[in-house]
Amino acid sequence: MGFSRQRVTLRLSVTDRCQLRCRYCMPLEGVPRVSHHDVLRFEEILRVVTLLRERFGLYKVRLTGGEPLLRSGITELARALASMGEMELALTTNGQLLSDLAEPLRRAGLTRINVSLDSLDPARYRELTRGGSLERTIAGIEAARAAGFAPIKLNTVVLRGVNLCEVGRIATFALERGLQPRFLELMPIGCARGFFERDFVSSEEVHRELEKDFTLAELPVNPASSSREFTIEGSGRLHGMVGFISSESRPFCAGCDRLRLTSTGTLIGCLARGDGCDLRKYLRLGDRDADEELAQAVHQVLAAKRPRGEFTRADLMPLLGG
Ligand code: 5AD
Ligand code: SF4
Repeated sequence: MGFSRQRVTLRLSVTDRCQLRCRYCMPLEGVPRVSHHDVLRFEEILRVVTLLRERFGLYKVRLTGGEPLLRSGITELARALASMGEMELALTTNGQLLSDLAEPLRRAGLTRINVSLDSLDPARYRELTRGGSLERTIAGIEAARAAGFAPIKLNTVVLRGVNLCEVGRIATFALERGLQPRFLELMPIGCARGFFERDFVSSEEVHRELEKDFTLAELPVNPASSSREFTIEGSGRLHGMVGFISSESRPFCAGCDRLRLTSTGTLIGCLARGDGCDLRKYLRLGDRDADEELAQAVHQVLAAKRPRGEFTRADLMPLLGG
């Protein structure tokens, strides 16, 4: 059976654990603990990545979680992935452990870092993440800059009653440091479903809020990108780029080339679909070479991606790789 070669990207969740409990993402009690045995080993991850590269045109891997820096040996995994070459290797992190890991990750061959930052007020940050330290995240961001990562993107999920008032300040903080702010619309999945109606803020509204202090001009649309990008200019020669991820008001499904692999080996084609495919069972067939079954499974997941569905999954965001 011949598979048509296409281009795909992979969001690779290396753990579903997180030390934080952001209110829109993790329930207070965290996610049910999975047994160590059920989590994909590095060699299994590398086998899936190799297959996706060879047969499905994989050109980018983003390490996600939960919090990916909690996975022990993450630097070694990054090194192994980077050594495959010809692939962008990115990371999305909450930044809490980044100050010690930025430099080793850079040396291992990681190319890009996105840091989640929902508030610049220490008390609000702590309250929103239920215990996170803003100071540590900022130290992590500084370490990533010092290690030479560029561009570093700061991801902010905008919530009406919480941080809408801070978007100008967050943009200023980012631009002053040569970082790229990105504002995300809340998605009504997992824990966020309970307060989605109340706290959802559209990108359009964030844009209007930013226009109070900045001038924005849209850049050409990249169809494979989930974000729309603008140049942004403020007073005092402050300038750079800002992105908006508008999963609700402007779904980007049409150009989406993403696959997600959970830490336990389920391949998911689309957040809006209720199903995934268990690759682990093929990876653990013993001696038998299951590459054909694996490829068949990937093919099915890709074929089932659809233009637009509703986010109805009960699953929690961290299990889906952010
Ligand atoms: N809506 C939008 N973004 C979310 N994230 C987690 N849950 C949601 C949600 N319900 C984001 C985090 C982080 C990334 C991993 O996913 O803020 O930036
Ligand atoms: Fe952890 Fe990120 Fe979820 Fe916050 S959004 S609880 S930092 S995985």
